[in-house]
Amino acid sequence: MMNFAIWQSILEQQWGIKAKLSSLDGEFDLNILVKSTSTKNYVLKVMRSGCLQDFVDMQIKALNHLKVSEPELPFPEVVATLSGQKFVKCKDEFGKIRLLWLIKKLPGHKYVDHGYKSLNLISQLGGMIAKCDAALKSFEHKFLHRDLKWNLSEASWVEDHVDLIEDSSRKCILENIIKDYKNILPMLKKQPFQPIHGDVNDHNTLVNASLNTKASISGILDLGDMCFAPRVCEVAIAGAYIVLDHEKPEAALATLIEGYNCILQLDTRELDLIWPLLRMRLAVSVINSTLMSKDDPDDPYITVSQEPAWKFLERKVKHSKFMAARLRSICGKPVVDGADRVLAYLNEKRGSFFPIFDYDLASIPMGSLSVENSLWPKNPFFLPPEEAIRVGEEIEHKDAFWMGYYNEPRLIYVEPAFRNGPWKASDRRTVHLAVDIFAPTSTRVHSPLDGRVAVAENRVGYLDYGGVIILEHKTPDDDIFYTLYGHLNPEFMERIKVGDIIDAGTFFCKLGDEKVNGGWAPHLHFQLALMTEGIEADWPGVGDPDEMYLWHGVCPNPAALLNLPDKMTHYSPTNKKEILSERREHFGRNLSITYEDPVMLVRGWKHHMFDEWGRPYLDAYNNVPHVGHAHPRIQRIVSNQMGRINTNTRYLHPVQTAFAKKILSKLPSKLDTCFFVNSGSEANELALRLVRAHTGLKGIVTLNHGYHGNTTGAVDISAYKFNAGGGVGQANWVELIELPDDYRGEFKRNDPKRAEKFGNLVNSAISNLTAKQIGLAGFIAETFPSVAGQIIPPEGYLQNVYKHIRNAGGLCVADEVQTGLGRLGKFYFGFEQQGVEPDIVILGKPIGNGHPIGVVITSNEIAESFAQGPEFFSTFGGSTLSCLIGKEVLEIIDEEKLQENADLMGKKLLGGLNELQDSFSQIGDVRGMGLFCGVDLVKDKETREEDRDLCSYIKNRMRDHRILVGSEGPKDNILKIRPPLTIDEEGIDMILLCLQKIMQEL
Ligand SMILES: Cc1ncc(COP(=O)(O)O)c(C=O)c1O
Repeated sequence: MMNFAIWQSILEQQWGIKAKLSSLDGEFDLNILVKSTSTKNYVLKVMRSGCLQDFVDMQIKALNHLKVSEPELPFPEVVATLSGQKFVKCKDEFGKIRLLWLIKKLPGHKYVDHGYKSLNLISQLGGMIAKCDAALKSFEHKFLHRDLKWNLSEASWVEDHVDLIEDSSRKCILENIIKDYKNILPMLKKQPFQPIHGDVNDHNTLVNASLNTKASISGILDLGDMCFAPRVCEVAIAGAYIVLDHEKPEAALATLIEGYNCILQLDTRELDLIWPLLRMRLAVSVINSTLMSKDDPDDPYITVSQEPAWKFLERKVKHSKFMAARLRSICGKPVVDGADRVLAYLNEKRGSFFPIFDYDLASIPMGSLSVENSLWPKNPFFLPPEEAIRVGEEIEHKDAFWMGYYNEPRLIYVEPAFRNGPWKASDRRTVHLAVDIFAPTSTRVHSPLDGRVAVAENRVGYLDYGGVIILEHKTPDDDIFYTLYGHLNPEFMERIKVGDIIDAGTFFCKLGDEKVNGGWAPHLHFQLALMTEGIEADWPGVGDPDEMYLWHGVCPNPAALLNLPDKMTHYSPTNKKEILSERREHFGRNLSITYEDPVMLVRGWKHHMFDEWGRPYLDAYNNVPHVGHAHPRIQRIVSNQMGRINTNTRYLHPVQTAFAKKILSKLPSKLDTCFFVNSGSEANELALRLVRAHTGLKGIVTLNHGYHGNTTGAVDISAYKFNAGGGVGQANWVELIELPDDYRGEFKRNDPKRAEKFGNLVNSAISNLTAKQIGLAGFIAETFPSVAGQIIPPEGYLQNVYKHIRNAGGLCVADEVQTGLGRLGKFYFGFEQQGVEPDIVILGKPIGNGHPIGVVITSNEIAESFAQGPEFFSTFGGSTLSCLIGKEVLEIIDEEKLQENADLMGKKLLGGLNELQDSFSQIGDVRGMGLFCGVDLVKDKETREEDRDLCSYIKNRMRDHRILVGSEGPKDNILKIRPPLTIDEEGIDMILLCLQKIMQEL
C-alpha cells in the first residue's frame, strides 16, 4: 500500500488542493489520481528519483505549446502551484528527491479497454495526431535530441538482442522485420524531421463513450517519449497499436492514415514507410519487453503489450508494397510510382489500341449481372454447373457478343474462397474488377499492345479462370502495367511460355468453352492491373465492396485498352444515400426506418438477404418470409398463375376451398369457416365486426401494449399505438388488462398461481364495460404478446381468461399473426400451448410469405350471425394467387418440416442465450419458444430496470456484424430474435457468437 500522506500534504501546501489519492499505473513514475474535495480531479505525476529536470520541463512546455496552438486537442492541462511554478522538487519517504507536477484529469477510459474500436473513432484519432504534429512542428526543446530507445528512426539497436527470443519462428519474424527496416532506413532519414509525441499508443489514448452517443477520443497522454524524428514515425507508432486485436487491422490502419492525411498530407514516400515502420515498432516493443522481463519477471506492465503484438506479428505476412498501395489509395495517391502516368498514357492512347477481337466492341450491348438486376444465381450461395454455363443468357442469345461491367457487384461468386470469415453472411468479395466480353467459344483474342508473357497457366478448378494469360506491358516512360485474359482455351499452353513477347495485334489465344474455362458461358475476363505485389498468387478478379478504394487503384477500369469510354463499362449500384434522401422527401416522417445506417436490401434467399453491393445479412428478424426469402416454389406459383388469371371470390376457383381446407385441417374442428382478406390489420377489423355481430355488443377487452394492426379499428384495440405519444387515446369501448408478463408484471414466476391471478384481472375489465353500459363483445390478444416484449404467458393463463369472458357472454379472439404456423416449434398455434380453443383465429403475414394475405377463421355459427348483415367482399382477399400462395406456404411448412426445424433451432438458440445470460449481468431474462425469442436487457439484474440504450446499441452492432434483429417492449429494451423458419445451425451459431462478442465489448 503506497504511503500517500507525504504527497497529500505537498498537494495542499503547494497547490492548495485537499484531496483523496489513489494510484494509477505507470512504467517508472508514479501517477496518482487526485480526487479533490471540489468536483475537480487531477493526476499528480511523481517522477522517478533521478529524473532529469529537462525531461519534465520538455513535457510541460510541450503541453503548454499544444494548448496555445491547438486548444481543441484533448491534451491534459498543466496546473501551476500557488506560487506559479510548473513543478516542484520534494523528498519522498526514503529521503529521495522527486520532481512533482500536476495535470488536470481528462475524462474517459483507455483506448485499449474500449470494446468497439469503430473506424469512426480511429479516423478521429488520425486527425488528432495530425493536428498534434502540425502544432509540434514549431516546438523546440533541447531534450528532444537525447538518445531514446523508442525513437523509431534509431531503432537498429534491437538487432543485438534478437537472440534473446528463444522461439525460432518468432526470432525469424523479427529478423525479417529488422531486415526490412534497415532497407528503408536511408529513405526514412530523408523524410522531414520534427518533434513528435512518439507514443500515441492504446494506453495513452482515452475514449469517452456511452451507449447512446458516438465514442470520441477524449485524451492523449504522456509526452515522455517525445523526440525529434521523421514525422511519419508518429502515425506508424499509433498504427502499431491500432492494428492490435482489431478484427480488420488493414482497414483500421488505412482509416487512421486517411484521418491523418485529411489534416496533414502524407506524401507517397512517407506512406510507403508506414507498414515496415509499424512492424518495427512492434518488434522494438516485444524485444524491449523481453529484455526488461529478464530483470523484472513479475512486473505486468512491462509485458503489457507483448501478446497482442505477437499475435499480430504472427499473422500471414502482407506484402509491404500491397499495404503501401492500400495506404496510398486511401489517400488518393497512385498505388505505385508511375501508376498515374500509366493511366494518363492509356487515356491518351484510347482509341488507338489494337482491337482485342475482330469485332466492334463499341456497338455491342452491355448486360448487367448485378445483385440488383440479375437473378443469377438462383441460390446466391450455390452456382451449379448447369447455371454457370447459362449465366447472362437472358441478355443475349448464346454465341452473341455482349459485355459485362467493371465495378459491378454480383452474387455469382459463391465459393467459400470468396468469403472473408466463417459465416455465409461474412464479408464477401462481390465486385467485378474486370470487363467481361461474352462471345462465341474459340473467338480469337489479340493483344491490344506489345507485351511480355508474365503468366500462362491453366487453372482447372470449377469457376476458376481455366486458361489464363497475363501480359506485362511498358509505357514509353518504362512504367509497367499488366493485362489479364481469363477463361481461355488452354490450348495456348503448347505455344506460349512465360517470357514470350507478344506483339500488338497478335492473335495469341482464344476463348474456351465451359469444359476448359472454369465452367462458365464462354467469355473473356479482361482485367488491368497496375501492380502485381501481393496479388500475384491468386490475381483476384473480384473485390470486397468495402475495399474498393484499394481495388479501383490496383485494377482500374480497363475500358481505354478496349478503345471504349470508361463510363460505358463502369457500373454504379443504386446510391443508398440518394434513395434515403428521396424517401425523406416523399414519405411521411413517421414511416419508420431501422438502423442508424439503414440497409437497402435487393435480394434474399432463405434466411439471408443481400444489399445493393452484395453484402450478405443473416435475417434473424423477419417473420414475413416464413418459409424463407425467394422460396422457389412460391416464385414458380406467382409467375405461373399471373400468366393465367388472378381474380376474386365472386367467381369459383378450386384453390379457394383447397386453401380453406388446408388451413382448417390445422385447427380445432369447431373452427370451420374462413374469410380471406389482405392483411393482419384487415383480419382484426373483420374479427371486431364478427364478435359484435354475434353478441350485439361493442366492448372489447384486450392486453396492454398489444398490437393488432394499423387501420382505425385495429389501432383502437392496439394500446401500443393508441397510447403512444400523439396516439388517438383509449376508446370508451376498450378495456385494457395487464400483460401476463411474469418477469416484470404484478405476479412473478415464483408465484404458482400467477396464471390464474393474471387471468382474473379480466373480471374488473368486464365489470367496467357493464358499468359503462357498453357490454362485452369479446376478448382479443396476441397469444404470445410480441411488440410488448416477446412475452410467454404462464401456462393456463388463457384458459382462465376465456372462462371469465365466456361466462360474461363474450367471444375469444386469438391473434396468431406472430405465433401461428409452426414458429413455436412444439405447437402449430400459440393457443395450443395455452390449452384453449378460440372462437376466432387471426392469421396474417407469414401465410403469404411476402404476398399480402390475412385470414379470419371462425365457427359456422358466428359466421352465420355476421351473414345477417350486408354482403362480405374483399377484392384482393382470397384472390386466386393469394389462395395458391397461402396453400403452398402451408404445404411447404409440412413438407420441409419447418415446424420441427423451429423446435430444434429454437432450443439451440434459447440454450445459447441462457448461457449468455449466466455470463452477462445485462441479460435480465431470456424467454421464448421455438423461433419466437426475446432477450430482456437490464441495467441491473436485481431492479430489472430496462436498458433501452443497450438494446439499441446491440441491435446496431449486430447489424455491423451483418445480423438483423429487432427491439421490442414498452421500454424498447427487449432484443427480438424471430428469423424465418429456415434458419440453420450455422445461423444460430452466428447469432450467439456475435451477440457474445458485442456483450464482451461493453
Ligand atoms: C400480432 C399482429 N397482429 C396484426 C398485425 C397487423 O398485420 P398487417 O401489418 O399485415 O396489417 C401485426 C403486424 O405486425 C401483428 O404483429
